[in-house]
Amino acid sequence: MAKKLTLERIIHQQGFGARKLCRIMIRNHEVTVNGLACDEPYAEFDLDKLHYTVQGEAWDYREKSYLMLHKPSNYECSHKTQHHPTIYSLLPHPLVVRDVQCIGRLDEDTTGLILISDDGQFIHRMSSPKHKVAKTYEVRCKHPVDDSQIAQILKGVQLIDEDAPIAALACTRISEHVIHMTLTEGKYHQVKRMVAAISNRVEALKRIQIGDLQLPHDLAVGHWRWLSDSDMAKLGAI
Ligand code: URA
Repeated sequence: MAKKLTLERIIHQQGFGARKLCRIMIRNHEVTVNGLACDEPYAEFDLDKLHYTVQGEAWDYREKSYLMLHKPSNYECSHKTQHHPTIYSLLPHPLVVRDVQCIGRLDEDTTGLILISDDGQFIHRMSSPKHKVAKTYEVRCKHPVDDSQIAQILKGVQLIDEDAPIAALACTRISEHVIHMTLTEGKYHQVKRMVAAISNRVEALKRIQIGDLQLPHDLAVGHWRWLSDSDMAKLGAI
């Protein structure tokens, strides 16, 4: 049987604030459901394919949130930032209230694909070292990258504080200074440290793929979108 909830509870659970505030917004005619006005907080609605608006903004009911963000440079991936704005300031407030978390942090000067969710199981699945989800980075290096450097990255480089050499799953040269590197771990500053270990230096770093999911070309820097079923399949999540 389809699950039903009161409108007040739905709006509250979707991140629009305390239940009392949600009640007030509903009574103030600030909420519509499936195209119809509803000013009764205790009216019950079927959660399946529920569309609603709050203060004119359209939403679909989502039990859990799954999204991707094109991270800009000079944003930090934590809630309490030190020097730069947080990536969470790029998301609508209700999602932040729902306590979405980014899956694996990027450095403040790294750009590109970040997954964000409030589903603990999904976060664990995508970030646990056991699952070895591949992440591909586009790396612009200070000095030209030669074949022997690519070979070293594929064979494994010794990083300070690591017991054994670490190898990339894949590493290809795109141009004289640009390589694509695929890693299955997410160690601290891993790409920068691996590139330093081959006597080069990262000048720009962008994550372009997670699993089989590529950063879409039409997702502008600083913008986010919901993950579709096909995106979730590319992540191996469904
Ligand atoms: N490796 C790094 O060095 N930095 C990142 O942000 C991600 C991977």
